[in-house]
Amino acid sequence: MAQKVQRVKGVNDILPLEAKQWQALEHIVKQVMDRYAFGEIRPPIFEKTELFARGVGEDTDIVSKEMYSFSDMSKSSLTLRPELTAGVVRSYIQNNLQQISPVQKLWYEGPMFRQERPQKGRYRQFWQFGAEAIGSPNPEQDAEMIALFYAILKELGIEKSVTLKINSIGDGESRALYRSALQEFLRPHLSLLSETSQKRFESNPLRILDSKAPNDKDLVKDAPKIRECLNDASATHYAEVLKMLEAMDIPYVQDDLLVRGLDYYTHTIFEFTSNALGAQDAICGGGRYNDLIKELGGQDVPAIGWASGIERLLLVVDELQPLKTDSGLDLFLIVQGEDIRVKAPKLIHEWRSAGLNCDLDTLRRSMKAQMREANRQEARYVAILGEEEFDQGVVQLKNFETGEQEAVSFNDVVSTIKKALSS
Ligand code: HAM
Repeated sequence: MAQKVQRVKGVNDILPLEAKQWQALEHIVKQVMDRYAFGEIRPPIFEKTELFARGVGEDTDIVSKEMYSFSDMSKSSLTLRPELTAGVVRSYIQNNLQQISPVQKLWYEGPMFRQERPQKGRYRQFWQFGAEAIGSPNPEQDAEMIALFYAILKELGIEKSVTLKINSIGDGESRALYRSALQEFLRPHLSLLSETSQKRFESNPLRILDSKAPNDKDLVKDAPKIRECLNDASATHYAEVLKMLEAMDIPYVQDDLLVRGLDYYTHTIFEFTSNALGAQDAICGGGRYNDLIKELGGQDVPAIGWASGIERLLLVVDELQPLKTDSGLDLFLIVQGEDIRVKAPKLIHEWRSAGLNCDLDTLRRSMKAQMREANRQEARYVAILGEEEFDQGVVQLKNFETGEQEAVSFNDVVSTIKKALSS
């Protein structure tokens, strides 16, 4: 036997039954995005490597260790997108979207690629849906973004089992002040810090706050808090965001150690986490990024966004409140007799053209096996067609749920089923 080819480590096949769950989630996401007036954007899956190096940051784990980069025939370095904020901003600038409206509210869904160590809830190809609001510097935009994800959680019925952690890292001035305060606090203990944190001490000391190394965690417990270093404008912005969340009854926990692993953030940052997951407990992460558009060659335009990992979110949903799905198959046509098999395709073709979801057996199996297949596919109805029925121009239509059966003429099958399904 020829050797089987295995899938690449850390990627998933989403099989039809699982895809039903995905579709149910996607349906909710799309509805909520419409409700909040976000338009869908579909940027490409690969971009110039430079976009992520400049956008996400050279020193981040994503850019320094995790990107799938390759050269194409013209020797340009390209990268499979590890996230979509940089791509959306590139597209916003290139397509002059600010000319259409000063606030662009965009959402997306698609696969992302990061070469991380695979484990439950962490994959090398994973899907995100996310949203970006580009144009408004005001706290009401932050509040709307958070309310948007919260609305999706509510639709899924899991909002009470998820924690919103929030923090502010302020503007550039506040961060510079905090950076010095944190370095001053950590300097006497530098040799006790993990190797990674020692490296970050100069390049990005804020990331030391979310180090997983036990020693680092112990040390940062008593570190100064960034909240205490916010200048007036940053503190006011943050306080207003919190006030609006309270007014909307969106519970939050202020997390002084929350910093995010991407370099573009300013002001409000947040994560939604769930206990239903293991170590990879974040189902959504985001924040403001007021400098990114300018840094990528656009105008000085503020923005805020978030993204949620679909596999992770579905793990939580599955554990807490599985999504209701059904097979979607209205009718399975069961055929008896060699002559009838030849005639059945035309009939089912007509019913399908009239909008009915139907199926039939193409393996010429016994009636019993066809019935089993109809059952497996969870068809709402079966139509039995033998020679006698064919001569009379009818099928025996059986409702799988109630067991009721009646003879229905070929022409009335679609209307009978549609009427029953709509009531
Ligand atoms: P991120 O925190 O890197 O942010 O990812 C957002 C979410 O994607 C995470 O909370 C998690 O649910 C999911 N995720 C990340 N990595 C993996 C993985 N390896 N396997 C499975 N799921 C994963 C961003 O990507 C930012 N672009 C979010 C954002 C948008 N900020 C502003 N706008």
